[in-house]
Amino acid sequence: MARYPQRVQLIDVGPRDGLQNEKSPVPAAVKIELTHRLQDAGLTEIEVTSFVSPKWVPQMGDNAEVMAGLARKAGVRYSVLTPNMKGYEAAVASQPDEIVVFGAASEAFSQRNINCSIAESIERFAPVVEAAKAAGIAVRGAMSCTVGCPYEGEIAPSRVAYLAELMKGIGVERVDVADTIGVGTPIKVQKALEATLQYFNLDQVSGHFHDTYGQALPNTLASLELGIWNFQSSIAGLGGCPYAKGATGNVATEDLVYMLHGMGIETGIDLDKLVDAGIYISDFLQRKPNSRVAVALMNKRAG
Ligand code: HMG
Ligand code: MG
Repeated sequence: MARYPQRVQLIDVGPRDGLQNEKSPVPAAVKIELTHRLQDAGLTEIEVTSFVSPKWVPQMGDNAEVMAGLARKAGVRYSVLTPNMKGYEAAVASQPDEIVVFGAASEAFSQRNINCSIAESIERFAPVVEAAKAAGIAVRGAMSCTVGCPYEGEIAPSRVAYLAELMKGIGVERVDVADTIGVGTPIKVQKALEATLQYFNLDQVSGHFHDTYGQALPNTLASLELGIWNFQSSIAGLGGCPYAKGATGNVATEDLVYMLHGMGIETGIDLDKLVDAGIYISDFLQRKPNSRVAVALMNKRAG
């Protein structure tokens, strides 16, 4: 039998990945309240927003306002996406604990998402990483399309290794292996993780699985089997990437926490409070949480 980690560290990316694709505007006050509810539920890492072009992603145009409105809780790490020096310079005034540069294992996705090649993206990230580290800010690297790409189809593990080596080379401290469009299945995801583990150790690699094809939980289990213990998820299963049409949100944090707790793995998260946080944002968006666990627990409460 596989030996699973005893503890898992989660990053809720709901306020960022979750809300970056919403058609109707979500006020900064709602994003702030959601972040507060996540930290009250026990999340110790929250991806709050991104400092990208408001012409490209208007949903994140209130980045500084959201960061300024947070009542920060000790021990919680607040991270933000920064694609270039312009984004970093804007972000640093908001005092993030961690910045995230984001590249792709697919050339076509890199072009569509950040308007440059993989090689050019690394040139843009290098000074960001250097400045952040000099300022004592942690640095994470997101790697999109590590199993499949909406434009190029299947992505070979060698492409993932190539990107991981470049990320390592510029000083990125830890990386996210992202299945951006949720097409991955367990063995393919393990291959992408193993490619990354050539350059980063087990403590430095996290799984970021969108759930488009319902594979995010099996992919998480397959990652746990390799010893991966950091994962990203989105409250109420919110989200999708504006440059990955048809892709749904990350695995719902509620679903992930239910599975982990059921396996005896600690997360430090209170599932009941988490479900309430998901209901809060889903009520605002006028829909049901996109989480089987949340809906089941809501039905149980009602009954
Ligand atoms: P660009 O057009 O190549 O940038 O965009 P540029 O340097 O040529 O500048 C053009 C204009 O953008 C200029 O303004 C700049 O000032 C401005 P103008 O003179 O025309 O008025 N600009 C900026 N404004 C604000 N913040 C900035 C910034 N940089 C330039 N940081 C850029 C390049 C990366 C900015 C653009 O392509 C962009 O914003 N893309 C959005 C990417 C994005 O947010 N995608 C979603 C997040 S990634 C994701 O969801 C995947 C992930 O979840 C993992 C997974 O699931 O795969 C992380
Ligand atoms: Mg994502």
